[in-house]
Amino acid sequence: MSFKEKCNTGIRELDEMLIGGIPRGRTILVEGPPGTGKTILALHFLVAGILMYPKHPEPGVLVCLDESPNDLIREANAFGWDLQRLMELRQLIIIDAFSGRLGLKPDLPFAVPVGKFSTDTVMSRIVEAQQDIKAMRLVVDPVSALLDELEGEERRKAVLRLSALLSRQSLTTILTTELEKAGVGVERYAAHGLIRLTYKEADTKVGRRLRIVKMRETMHSMDIIPFEIGKKGIELKV
Ligand SMILES: Nc1ncnc2c1ncn2[C@@H]1O[C@H](COP(=O)(O)OP(=O)(O)O)[C@@H](O)[C@H]1O
Ligand SMILES: [Mg+2]
Repeated sequence: MSFKEKCNTGIRELDEMLIGGIPRGRTILVEGPPGTGKTILALHFLVAGILMYPKHPEPGVLVCLDESPNDLIREANAFGWDLQRLMELRQLIIIDAFSGRLGLKPDLPFAVPVGKFSTDTVMSRIVEAQQDIKAMRLVVDPVSALLDELEGEERRKAVLRLSALLSRQSLTTILTTELEKAGVGVERYAAHGLIRLTYKEADTKVGRRLRIVKMRETMHSMDIIPFEIGKKGIELKV
């Protein structure tokens, strides 16, 4: 597949495993227990879209649901990613869908205000943000937090509305989710691809592992790859 059909992830070895990257316009789920590196993987993807193609950057939108955008910006800084600058360049919009839920006044323009949190509000913010910077990439981190308050049929419908919106907007999307959360099956069903991050305990050390569980429309590696999180983010030990 050509560059046009695949969207790089910013992690070279992962792109090789995916024979070029994620199929464009599709939604993939990155699942794993807390701390495995889901948010960092998603940041690689957003930053790569902007910085790896200086002539034709692919702007991105990040919906931040489980931590404050300021914390996220600080964490990203540790890997050399200056999200603040990317926002100033209008290549990145962070939607603060976190502060309002805690009753705190968000300080970013594309926030979900106090008392207004719902799947539909978040979805309309995504559309506004996408139109504002002509975004091509989207991350919802974690999608489980978006669906937390919904159950059964209502939850299923929200997932379907979200996936319909994403394919209509032709965004290449990474949704993250924690493995243990109930109802994850629905998100998994709606996603075109699934990447799983896990811990593996050895005698005195815990290692991280990455595996592509499924990826429609493309061949991919079936290997289980150890990885580390280092100064530059995720490093696969292929
Ligand atoms: N600057 C850093 N250098 C090395 N490792 C880090 C750094 N920042 C975070 N980590 C590692 O990454 C983990 C968090 O990754 P994250 O992507 O936020 O996990 P998740 O989103 O899956 O909960 C931390 O538990 C820590 O082990
Ligand atoms: Mg996270």
